[in-house]
Amino acid sequence: MQQWQEHLKQIIGEVLIDEAALHKRLDELAEQINHDYQDIQAERLVVVGILRGSVLFMSDLVRRLQMPVELDFMSASSYGGTESTGTVRITKDIGQDIRGKHVLLVEDIIDTGNTMSRLIPMLQKRNPASLKLCSLLNKPSRRLCEVNIDYQGFEIEDKFVVGYGLDYNGNYRHLPVVAVLKPECYA
Ligand code: IMP
Ligand code: MG
Repeated sequence: MQQWQEHLKQIIGEVLIDEAALHKRLDELAEQINHDYQDIQAERLVVVGILRGSVLFMSDLVRRLQMPVELDFMSASSYGGTESTGTVRITKDIGQDIRGKHVLLVEDIIDTGNTMSRLIPMLQKRNPASLKLCSLLNKPSRRLCEVNIDYQGFEIEDKFVVGYGLDYNGNYRHLPVVAVLKPECYA
């Protein structure tokens, strides 16, 4: 346990968003979403998490939703290391027809916007009743493709972050905070 703490000290530059700040923002986002979807009570809201980065954020968010909710998942990949390849592959699709349904996409971070600018039009073609995007983080300084974020947790600077779902080469997703990785760790 001490070894792990030592390792974290070596790789983390700073804790950008701590647990209290995350939970406070989650309360606010959920309140907004509960308000916006209050009229769809007769139907279910399909909450679609983008694997794997959204998993921690999504599970904390849906626990706060006061409406019938169904969970689904999609997976898209564009990353190997820290740089976007600019190409997006759909590696897992949702398991249902979303025609006429209200869909809320949940993502960890909007960076270049490549992933969402590819996924959203693809899902729109399936004619959902509505399609909105909720992202924990937004890095607008890196944007290459325009993306409309309906619900945003935090806007952050152009720093590579890990934790609370976000990874570096598959590591650190389970950290309960969002932290900046020291640049020398991914040089
Ligand atoms: P985009 O397609 O460039 O917007 O990138 C979206 C994906 O890149 C996110 O879902 C993340 O998986 C990954 N990503 C972007 N920035 C970071 C970061 O700072 N840390 C970890 N993953 C990131
Ligand atoms: Mg992702």
